Amino acid sequence: MTDDELVEAAKAIRKNAYCPHSSFHVGAAILDEEGRLHIGCNVENAAYPQGSCAETGAIAAMIAGGGHRISRIAIAGGTSHHTTCCTPCGGCRQRISEFADTDTRIIVKGNNNEWRSFAIDELLPGAFSSDVL
Ligand code: THU
Repeated sequence: MTDDELVEAAKAIRKNAYCPHSSFHVGAAILDEEGRLHIGCNVENAAYPQGSCAETGAIAAMIAGGGHRISRIAIAGGTSHHTTCCTPCGGCRQRISEFADTDTRIIVKGNNNEWRSFAIDELLPGAFSSDVL
C-alpha cells in the first residue's frame, strides 16, 4: 500500500468519527509489520475526557488484530469537509511511541492533497520508554 493509499484510508474512516462536541473528524490508518491495515476514528463523549482519539482506536484495532509494530500510520483530521494539518496529540505521540521503531513513518494529511511525514523522534524527542522501567 502506498502512502497516498494509507492517507486515503485515514480520510475514509473519518466519515465514521463520532464527534458531536468538537465537530473535528479524525481518522487514523496503521500498516503493521506484516502490512495489515488497521483503522480508527475519534469517539467523543459528553463527559469530555472520556473521549478517545483516532490514533488510540487504530492502535487498539492493531493489537486486537494481532499486529505488533507500527510500520506506518496516517492521520487525517479536520471539519466534515476539509482536512487540516492534524499532528497527533501528546498522549497519542506516547501511544504511537510504544509501538514505533526508528523507521516508523507518521504521515499527517494537510490541506488539499499534501501530507507530511515524521519519525517518532521528531514528534516526541526524549520519549519516556520501557528502557527505564
Ligand atoms: N483528536 C484525535 O482524534 N487525534 C488527535 O491527534 C488530535 C485530536 C480528536 C479528539 C477530539 O475528539 C477531537 O479530535 C478534537 O480535539
